[in-house]
Amino acid sequence: MDVVDCFLPAQTDDAAVTITAVAPAGLDGVLESLPPSAAAWARSSRFAATDDEVCPVPAGDGSLAAVLFGLGENSAAPGLAVGKLPRSLPAGNYRLGEGFADPALATVAWALGAYRFSRYRDDDRDPRRLVLPAAIDGAETAAVVDGVYLARDLINTPANDLGPAELAEAAAGLASAHGAVFSEIVGEALIGEGFPLIHAVGAAAASNRAPRLIEFVWGPAGRPQVTLVGKGVCFDTGGLDIKPARGMAMMKKDMGGAACVLGLAAMIMSCNLPVRLRVLIPAVENAIAANAFRPGDVFPSRKGLTVEIGNTDAEGRLVLADALALADEDSPDLLIDLATLTGAARVAVGPDIVPFYTDDDGLAEKLAARGRAVADPLWRMPLWRGYMPMLKSKVADINNVGSSPFAGSLTAALFLSRFIGSETTWLHGDIFGWNPSARPGRPEGGEAQAIRALFAFTKDRYRA
Ligand code: BES
Ligand code: ZN
Ligand code: ZN
Repeated sequence: MDVVDCFLPAQTDDAAVTITAVAPAGLDGVLESLPPSAAAWARSSRFAATDDEVCPVPAGDGSLAAVLFGLGENSAAPGLAVGKLPRSLPAGNYRLGEGFADPALATVAWALGAYRFSRYRDDDRDPRRLVLPAAIDGAETAAVVDGVYLARDLINTPANDLGPAELAEAAAGLASAHGAVFSEIVGEALIGEGFPLIHAVGAAAASNRAPRLIEFVWGPAGRPQVTLVGKGVCFDTGGLDIKPARGMAMMKKDMGGAACVLGLAAMIMSCNLPVRLRVLIPAVENAIAANAFRPGDVFPSRKGLTVEIGNTDAEGRLVLADALALADEDSPDLLIDLATLTGAARVAVGPDIVPFYTDDDGLAEKLAARGRAVADPLWRMPLWRGYMPMLKSKVADINNVGSSPFAGSLTAALFLSRFIGSETTWLHGDIFGWNPSARPGRPEGGEAQAIRALFAFTKDRYRA
């Protein structure tokens, strides 16, 4: 689905119905300002301005004259509530009227709610279009929405149509659209180039689904460098430590980190943020075959540490380890990785909140604040070095899983931290990448998490 299907330019000649946002406390005042018949309609419809309550108001001739939208008691932080509207209003054109505290966020929420995954089945609904409010940056809004749509489309595409090669194609397409320089290291070449862990995890996949390290670089050298790394496990069977059916069912989404990193890169490049951008995606399929890596195997890594495989299902941290080690080699100003890394992160904070790890207190505070402001919530977790001994191996420098079932998201983050120098400003987000059920602005299925917050944060940090 395309962003042009949800917006009309601010200067449009097309007629549009005005949507007025109302909190319960302001309802009487708003009703008094309406024509008497409209107010009577709202009253007889028992419209009470509760959370995302929608009240279409007819004109005398039966056409749609206006829409009232309830803010509920939460009117100070409406989040993505407006995302409900394109799912509930009839096809047509609309504009935001009074009562929207943050028209820019409301506009984004509209588009997030309008999204449909239409690769395999036409979305034959006529569009609900919102006139872009004159006061907001329409180009930036479209860039943000495009980035989210890109990430959702990639996550929703099943593994038979999105293996490592297709993920690389998507990255190459994005890179060429923005004049970025694309490259990749594929299959056996990973060994010669020094990425033994990416090679090991991806070894058992079919030859046309060979593991690879995808890369593109954008923006002039000399600008501060932001490096994004995304877990690109196109399908996670668990490997020889195979997942039960219930756990495997959604594992097409295990490239959610890569999808989100591409979405964020698209936003940064479209808006021409004053950074040099480097994107790294270790892309593999964690498959099962005679040449699969095994529990107990020991591999070297790009960083030089030897890694014992405690569990082949903890594959994400392995491919990220080699990619993060490379990312660290040219000392970026900021290193961000996003990954659907652990089930433990879901136990901790559920599907909606992204737990993140960093040693930089200022960064943590600012990022969480941006997340709240754009309704893309993140919550900081401790990189508690006291748990590092859980990752001890009897035969190698480190084991890829913790020795106890405790603190699974933390130990995964601690594992990653061993492949990055302590001078690097690093942030790791353990995302879910999926909406288990539909909510306003959050359709069921693949979801771009943390990237609207990270885009806002990056914009602030490098404001020209
Ligand atoms: N891709 C999974 C993590 C995951 C599972 C994310 C479900 C979102 C939903 C990852 O590769 C994995 O399997 N991790 C294991 C690690 C364990 C073996 C230490 C997990 O979380 O169970
Ligand atoms: Zn796994
Ligand atoms: Zn995985």
